[in-house]
Amino acid sequence: MTGNPGPAISSNVRTEEEIQRMRLAGNAAAEVLLEVQPFVQPGVTTDKIDQIAHEAILERNAYPSPLNYRGYPKSVCTSVNEVICHGIPDSRPLADGDIVNVDVTLYLNGVHGDTSVMFFVGEVDEESKRLVLETRTALYAGIHSVKPGEPINTIGRTIENHARQHNLGVVREFIGHGIGTEFHSGLQIKHYYDPYDSTVIVPGMTFTIEPMLTLGSPTCEMWDDDWTAVTRDGSRTAQFEHTVLVTEDGVEILTKTKDGVVPAEQVLG
Ligand code: MF3
Ligand code: CO
Ligand code: CO
Repeated sequence: MTGNPGPAISSNVRTEEEIQRMRLAGNAAAEVLLEVQPFVQPGVTTDKIDQIAHEAILERNAYPSPLNYRGYPKSVCTSVNEVICHGIPDSRPLADGDIVNVDVTLYLNGVHGDTSVMFFVGEVDEESKRLVLETRTALYAGIHSVKPGEPINTIGRTIENHARQHNLGVVREFIGHGIGTEFHSGLQIKHYYDPYDSTVIVPGMTFTIEPMLTLGSPTCEMWDDDWTAVTRDGSRTAQFEHTVLVTEDGVEILTKTKDGVVPAEQVLG
């Protein structure tokens, strides 16, 4: 197995049966984030977080979608401080004052669930807290802008406006995506306003929204591991991600537990 996916082929609209399976995958992904939460402490390595998540995923009879995806070496992404996304877990212990995103994607019963949250490690400075909290608010503003019949660029317009109001940058190189039987299906969800992207939002679509905002310039640079994306100016960056379903009159967040606990809403207290 090469780990390389073929071209995206699935429909943008899911069947009722696929949607039911996606709810279960979303439940499981949210539960894994909650299992990881107590380990996110100063002195704990991101390798340890990967191991905890990996085991929690297998316990649910799921597969960690990132593992060997296009050659990706680990089961989750852990993106610390100036790392925008796709940080590879390693032997560095988390330090007091770090901010870290843990991004869990799992494949359960033929469909994927994809979600990420930021954690504060120990005592975090006020600017970093502001960045993290406003990034979460930007994700929710984007989610609440989702309405059938509206163009999909509404999402990015809403997120970009929120970021601008708070003097935060929006990363453009990485975007949300359709998700279902494929990890990344054809649909593109930009987090900035693209006037040309007027794809109409339709009930039954499932996609992620996963804005990455920055305290400084959103210009990216790639480490020579070919995965780790960082801000060129070294400024801190934050990301939250949900998998959502478009309903007849709005949106349903799929990446919450079956009891309705939403990691993105409770991990920061
Ligand atoms: N979970 C990431 C996303 O939100 C993708 C990670 S791909 C990997 O789309 F290979 F880096 F894991
Ligand atoms: Co995603
Ligand atoms: Co993700």
